[in-house]
Amino acid sequence: MGKMSDTIRREIDSERMAYVASVNDDGTPNLSPKATLATVDDDHLAFCDLASPRTLANIATRPAVEANVVDPIRRKGWRLAGTARVVDGGAEFESLAALFLARGTNLVGAGRQPPVRRFVVIRVSKVSPLLSPAYAMGQSEPEVIDYWSNVWRGRAHVAQAQAEPRALQAPEGALARDFTKEAKPPQGITIAREEGRLGVEEFADVLRKSTIRRPLDDAGRLTEMLRHANLVLTARDGAGALVGVSRSLTDFSYCCYLSDLAVDQAWQGRGIGKALLYETKRIIGPQAMLLLLSAPDPMTYYPSIGMDTVSNGFIIRREF
Ligand SMILES: Cc1cc2nc3c(=O)[nH]c(=O)nc-3n(C[C@H](O)[C@H](O)[C@H](O)COP(=O)(O)O)c2cc1C
Repeated sequence: MGKMSDTIRREIDSERMAYVASVNDDGTPNLSPKATLATVDDDHLAFCDLASPRTLANIATRPAVEANVVDPIRRKGWRLAGTARVVDGGAEFESLAALFLARGTNLVGAGRQPPVRRFVVIRVSKVSPLLSPAYAMGQSEPEVIDYWSNVWRGRAHVAQAQAEPRALQAPEGALARDFTKEAKPPQGITIAREEGRLGVEEFADVLRKSTIRRPLDDAGRLTEMLRHANLVLTARDGAGALVGVSRSLTDFSYCCYLSDLAVDQAWQGRGIGKALLYETKRIIGPQAMLLLLSAPDPMTYYPSIGMDTVSNGFIIRREF
């Protein structure tokens, strides 16, 4: 058997990020990310040279390298020490190109980056496991996975929230209303996407102040409601206080269920609810319908801001 077992190889090959260290002329370390790192066989790793001038210069004279691959959710990984060399032609180049193509690596560049002309092959001489200290401190793998899945889910939400919403192309004449204009919040109010960021206490507080009926005493349930919502808009006043919220689940393409639209009673009647609603609609785009259920009181409110009543809806009610 070589230095890397099937399990180790599988773990390395399923990871999407590695860091490779080489040694500079003056003995200082040189570390850089290589997302293409993959196993070639039980003793060899390889990565595509896409933009690694310093690593390539270093290994030309000092081939010693170390790669680290860590699963960011299981918080386990491998340190892989060895010696590196460049492969830039011949049968070995062709077989590495076939390996990376089979992994779905873009070797031709699609006009954005130069085609891959070199691979770096690492002969692995030492493999050691990497383990988060969380395990030594008593956490089990399921606990670690649960915790870090949530962290990364939250980060993904925040990244999506900070990115510009995708502009969907409506068919000619398909846009009945200009939601960009209707979504304008009243003066002094800022509307923002905050899924993954809005804290459960703030959420509960604005729900309470709006008088909307929700399970306010069940922090666990409110946390789940926030955690799984993928479009949460907040309305804040000039001092940053939360005065309104809308919480939706959507595929950004076909449907959106807006579950909670709540505005602090002290701020009602100023167009904040309408702005939250239409900003939600603007973000999901013209292809997606927006559905909500009204409490008895606002039954006349929604038609007044331009929403249609449906008679073809059916529901299985929650039990509590
Ligand atoms: C997410 C990410 C993945 C990368 N993957 C690779 C890679 O697979 N191969 C590569 O040559 N460069 C890759 N790079 C670019 C190099 O890490 C970057 O150009 C670095 O500055 C090269 O440093 P070096 O010259 O010390 O190798 C990646 C960069 C990032 C941020």
